[in-house]
Amino acid sequence: NLITAGTMAAFGLTAWSGVVASDSHTIKFGNVISAGDTQNQGYELFAEQVAERTDGRITVEVYPDSQLGGEREMVEATQFGDIEMTAPSVGVLANFDKSLEVFDFPFIFEDADTAHEVLDSELGDEMLAGLADSGLVALGWGENGFRNLAMTDGTVRVPEDMEGVKLRTMQVPMHIAYWESIGAAPTPLSFPEVFTSLQQGVVDGVENPYELLYSARLTEPANYLTETRHIYDPEVLLINKDFYESLSDEDQEIIQSAADAAIDEIRSLKENVSDEIRAEIEAAGGTVTDLTEEERQAWIDSAVPFYAENASEVDTDKLKAILE
Ligand code: PAF
Repeated sequence: NLITAGTMAAFGLTAWSGVVASDSHTIKFGNVISAGDTQNQGYELFAEQVAERTDGRITVEVYPDSQLGGEREMVEATQFGDIEMTAPSVGVLANFDKSLEVFDFPFIFEDADTAHEVLDSELGDEMLAGLADSGLVALGWGENGFRNLAMTDGTVRVPEDMEGVKLRTMQVPMHIAYWESIGAAPTPLSFPEVFTSLQQGVVDGVENPYELLYSARLTEPANYLTETRHIYDPEVLLINKDFYESLSDEDQEIIQSAADAAIDEIRSLKENVSDEIRAEIEAAGGTVTDLTEEERQAWIDSAVPFYAENASEVDTDKLKAILE
């Protein structure tokens, strides 16, 4: 190879800028989710379909378990072309495109079907397209799922139980604002720090979908769980825009349809995974509490002051459209 990546970098060019005439590619796809979780089962399917349909010309290497960094780092790495793909939580992406913040509002979706209906609508497409301004092509809406509470020291049933509680959150302004509005003490930490922070009492609890809590072993120190379903957390499958646009139309179509298949697979695996994992948590000695109707209503009502305070901070038309 006369032209090396180093030579091209010196001229401000990237490896896929068209200087090298080759249609073989390796896609590095990093994510923070544990290997074997439903998301990574979907991403492995994506890798298989791309390899199969391109006769091995395009290889997808999936790196789970934060091997390539945290979510924000990997979005930046995808933007700058250090890796080709990642799939962060929408909360992290709102730092790149503020219009996505509407999905960080609590109790916005009652169930996954309603969430999918909105995400798969024109509005959802429009929001994905907005990421092009950040050098990213969004291939579709994946899914983390509904976030629930897991505490180290007793069960939480109503919002008042959160008074003064140090809760690990993501570094997501709207999540932090909601927990503050009900009197909790949200403590943003990166995901790999959470296990030790729970063990050492730096935080009293954490919130995430059951599957992510369990596969990261957070349900060992935080084994009092409550099914609050307070935030529905979609993820977005992202690919570097320059790389994607350097591919032939046919290869782009292969990538897009493999991403669609991965998303269908993830959504269908997620339908039952919460119940299965919940049973495993209980079998391991954890307590999982369902809310009564009144308790659930108290949680929903607890978000009203948050909406009053924050609705004007986001794209209010989009927020209204979603709520409608
Ligand atoms: O809690 C988080 O940080 C996120 O839910 C996670 C686990 C990184 C997945 O997006």
